[in-house]
Amino acid sequence: MYVCVCKAVSDTRIRRLVDDGVTTLREVSRETGLGTCCGKCVPQAREVLARSLGAQPVRLADLVAAPLAVAGA
Ligand code: FES
Repeated sequence: MYVCVCKAVSDTRIRRLVDDGVTTLREVSRETGLGTCCGKCVPQAREVLARSLGAQPVRLADLVAAPLAVAGA
């Protein structure tokens, strides 16, 4: 489904950008041009981005880098 008709940016494209490490709408816009014409797509793009970020699997590197909680410390 197209999120940004002006720049032909789909929800799939946004999800792929998130998979590649993009975390902000500004980065999505920089990569695709989303939101740079009429701007009507911005609210829906925010939703798709938020959903995509929420769907990210926990990476092993994040678990290894996270400090351990120590009871009584
Ligand atoms: S629909 Fe995205 S800038 Fe117009």
